[in-house]
Amino acid sequence: MTTENQAVVTIKINNQIGSISINYAPVNALSQAVRAGLINALVSLEDNDEVKVIIIGCEGRTFIAGADIKEFGKPPSEPFLPDVVNRIEACTKPVIASMFGTSLGGGFEVALACHYRVSLNQAKVGLPEVNLGLIPGAGGTQRLMRIVGPEQALEMITSGKHVAASKLANSDLFDLLIDSDLEQHTTAFAEGLMAKGELRPARVGDRTINTSNFDWSTAKSLVAKKAKGKQAPLVAFDVLEKTQQLSIKDGMAYEREQFLILRDSQQSAALRHAFAAEKQAAKLSIEATATNVEFVGIIGGGNMGSGIATAFLSSGFKVQLIEQTADALSAGLERIENNFMNNLKRGRMSQQQVDKYLANLTGDTDYQTLAECDLILEAVFENIDVKKELFNKVEQVCKPEAVLATNTSYLDINDIAKTMKRPEQLVGLHFFSPANIMKLLEVVKADQTSDAAIATAMALGKKLRKISVLVGVCFGFAGNRMYTRYGREIQQMLLEGATVEQIDNALTDWGMAMGPLAVQDLSGIDIGHNARSAQPFPEHDKGYFRAAATMVNAGRLGRKTNAGFYQYSDGKKESAPQVESLLREKANELAIKQQTFTDEMIVHRALFALIAEGLALLKAGIVQRTSDIDVIWLHGYGFPRYKGGPMFQAKQMGEQIVVGKLTELRAEFGEDIWPEYTFGEL
Ligand code: 3HC
Repeated sequence: MTTENQAVVTIKINNQIGSISINYAPVNALSQAVRAGLINALVSLEDNDEVKVIIIGCEGRTFIAGADIKEFGKPPSEPFLPDVVNRIEACTKPVIASMFGTSLGGGFEVALACHYRVSLNQAKVGLPEVNLGLIPGAGGTQRLMRIVGPEQALEMITSGKHVAASKLANSDLFDLLIDSDLEQHTTAFAEGLMAKGELRPARVGDRTINTSNFDWSTAKSLVAKKAKGKQAPLVAFDVLEKTQQLSIKDGMAYEREQFLILRDSQQSAALRHAFAAEKQAAKLSIEATATNVEFVGIIGGGNMGSGIATAFLSSGFKVQLIEQTADALSAGLERIENNFMNNLKRGRMSQQQVDKYLANLTGDTDYQTLAECDLILEAVFENIDVKKELFNKVEQVCKPEAVLATNTSYLDINDIAKTMKRPEQLVGLHFFSPANIMKLLEVVKADQTSDAAIATAMALGKKLRKISVLVGVCFGFAGNRMYTRYGREIQQMLLEGATVEQIDNALTDWGMAMGPLAVQDLSGIDIGHNARSAQPFPEHDKGYFRAAATMVNAGRLGRKTNAGFYQYSDGKKESAPQVESLLREKANELAIKQQTFTDEMIVHRALFALIAEGLALLKAGIVQRTSDIDVIWLHGYGFPRYKGGPMFQAKQMGEQIVVGKLTELRAEFGEDIWPEYTFGEL
């Protein structure tokens, strides 16, 4: 073993048991040094006559959590993981995996190649490779199918879900499941093998697979339905089906071949980018200590406030809800209770959890009851004067160190801060609706917001299990500002001759979770229209949300009037021929040039609108880094994760294409709509 390997993989021999310990923070990923160290350690213990049984375990927070993702972009270096796991299985002495934390991907594959598995009940296992656009590449498909059968293996591999070890107690996966004292139990298990003389390893690879009762064709359509544009689950299915009768050697060869193809795919690059971007988004360039938050005051019990309260309660916080009147308060409290009842009904929570969380909820109409809160957040009507007055009242009663937060989506937080005594305590916490479900949280830093308030807000986001992204103040912050630009382009295309269905279908076929016009109908076309109409429509922009204005003027407000961009009968969406004539009339009136759109043109226009606005945000310093924009779009607006995000798409296309396309659009529609940005902004 080299010195480096010695540091990450060590061995110890005690009473004929050889223990291999991996110590490679943070998650014991299988870097080259770990792979090499593991093989060397195994061979040295196998060659040592004193050793009868070998245990593979880990230091730190978890058993091996997978291949080292950081190595994926680099040329592969020996020893390769399939050789490592095969060497473990081939060992002439029994090898026991001692599992805790999360044994994932290559880590689970190492465990599957061991001859025995001892695990904590609460530990999790899984083959999450599909989440990175991959399939297991080191025997995972082969050994898991041999142990748990094709049905369960297919479910675990194509969903990528982490499964609690206790949930797999009925399968052959674990030889011993315990609640605590893993090391002692694994040692006792090894001693038991020696006492019984069971020292000939039984190898999973030698087993055959019983697939006689399995209906592959039904399973295939299920996998295809759930894949929603992702390639990896379909490839995983193909590998399992094609290799069911093959030897482990041939099965692993086919699995590896498909793994390597996927590793070089666009989808895998995008999904790996998404994983890394999420980790990056949580990192701050400031050094400040977050204050401890346990008791949260929420002002406003409408849909947003009650959703936010539900999110806080579900993460163990105490919540005080404030409303203006007793009636409004009881309606707000009821909304929160309903959210929990919904969780219960859908099996997301047990009655015990619901009771526990709701016991932390209180409410009042008196601001004085906010005096002990560590954080006070407002989620009231979007009116700047109302919010200014509210914070004025809050500052009279709150603790001096309390962090104050606004959930505004569009208002100028700097303007709100101007009228405050402690503007440094004010931060934006922009939740997305429904706040108890949506993952995204924009943490908004105003000019005077202190580093400590930001650190507190970001730490809160983590506790709430949200994906938090730090952004600066501008109209709509990062997400909604880009969404407005995207919406504007969709509206312009409608007037240029693209139909409602064509736009929605082109974008959903491309991978967007919903068509933008169906979304408009769902949220109500009048809502955005009324907000926009507070100011005159821009003179220079003929297409600026004129299609939406046309719908509103015709009384077509969306689903709530059974007529919007679509029409609805019994809640079913249908195309609306009248909309087409209304739009053509409007286009005629505005003298908008007509053209025939292809799906590709629609996707490109929408995507380039996002890219252009993203470049504007970067130039204005509204986001910390390019990848933060992608995180926002992946988690707030249904952008397909396997496409990485709008800015990732731009990078993939490269400077020449992006600059060329933006120049083309500028020439056609003018620089007010397509201003000049440089690719360097990326
Ligand atoms: N390789 C390298 N680094 C990894 C890693 C991996 N497989 N998994 C996690 N990390 C890093 C993270 O980037 C993060 O680094 P940072 O502190 O510098 O930001 C750190 O470990 C901690 O990660 P989290 O913040 O995510 O910690 P959590 O405790 O919330 O979650 C986890 C831990 C469940 C292990 C989660 O990180 C995770 O799901 N990781 C991905 C696991 C995975 O996909 N494994 C399969 C890899 S593919 C494979 O094995 C192919 C094989 O079949 C050949």
